[in-house]
Amino acid sequence: MTVAEKWVPSVRYRGDHLLILDQQQLPHHTVYLNVTSIGHVWDTISKLKVRGAPAIGITAAFGLALWSNTVKEDDLSIFLSKLKEQRDYLASSRPTAVNLFWAIDRVAAAAQSATSVDDAKKRIESEALHIQEEDENTCRKIGEYALSLLQDGDAVMTICNAGAIATSKYGTALAPFHLAKEKGWTLSVYANETRPVLQGSRLTAWELQANDIDVTLITDNMAAHTLKTKNIKAVIVGCDRVAANGDTANKIGTFGLALQARALGIPFYVACPLSTLDLVTASGSDIPIEERPEEEVTHINGVRIAPEGIKVFNPAFDVTPAEYISAIITEKGIIKGNYTNELPKLKEEHK
Ligand code: MRU
Repeated sequence: MTVAEKWVPSVRYRGDHLLILDQQQLPHHTVYLNVTSIGHVWDTISKLKVRGAPAIGITAAFGLALWSNTVKEDDLSIFLSKLKEQRDYLASSRPTAVNLFWAIDRVAAAAQSATSVDDAKKRIESEALHIQEEDENTCRKIGEYALSLLQDGDAVMTICNAGAIATSKYGTALAPFHLAKEKGWTLSVYANETRPVLQGSRLTAWELQANDIDVTLITDNMAAHTLKTKNIKAVIVGCDRVAANGDTANKIGTFGLALQARALGIPFYVACPLSTLDLVTASGSDIPIEERPEEEVTHINGVRIAPEGIKVFNPAFDVTPAEYISAIITEKGIIKGNYTNELPKLKEEHK
């Protein structure tokens, strides 16, 4: 069976509700939440029930469609100003992944040229569906480009989950593994468990194992030793926001992997849909880094593992400086170095 047949979609739009795969319950339970209001959408995003930059964007876009279907308002300008309020509300659900803002702005922009409220509602829905469909093609292309950097038999390391469930399908950093499977290649994957909320073990290990891909789980502090001793040919990661100079925000721990890869002479690749490229943000120091509740560090599965009253620092992301990135793999091609010149060119060419 291919990933297409085994695919568990993270978000499904049903007009008056969304079905959202509750990623907090994986790998034990495959449960779809019935999400019926924009407040519920906000909650599922902020509590990581749906997560991963592209999936967050898709969900928020559908959130606006869901909301607009319930609005009883005939005046277009009042409708558009309420739409702006809802856009701002969803924008406050998480700060780092730029796909969130990219998707809701795209949906809100589609409504601006409407001639009536009904027309605006149709445009909102169709734009949201479009974003989801586009993402599938984007991920497949990223996977194909990423595969061109690998060879049959290679071992590769990844962190967090930049997989099918973090996108519309295939994933970004995990796309080459799903496509390799379709091609009959054997790639082996070393997945960092990704503290504090374990998306590597709960999600990546689950997703790759479900597609019969050779995956080995390690704890995050085993990465350097594993890179050195397991003949790893590349590290490939996803991203939440890539600044104009190529600096890349991704799940906490990514920067450490980049440093280790550099020290050991192993290529470090970022899989980046153009929807995650933020040319307005000049460099990584301008990317807002989300800090999350301390319980994510002091507890595992609700059980306290640290002393009461301990001080906690819990950033969800870090920024890998562009100089540590061997290549950025987009759906429109692979960029190696000179990101400040090449990233804007690529985005401009594919507007
Ligand atoms: O906090 P999360 O789980 O939303 O963080 C996810 C990541 O860091 C992913 O690597 C990134 O969003 C890319 S998903 C294709």
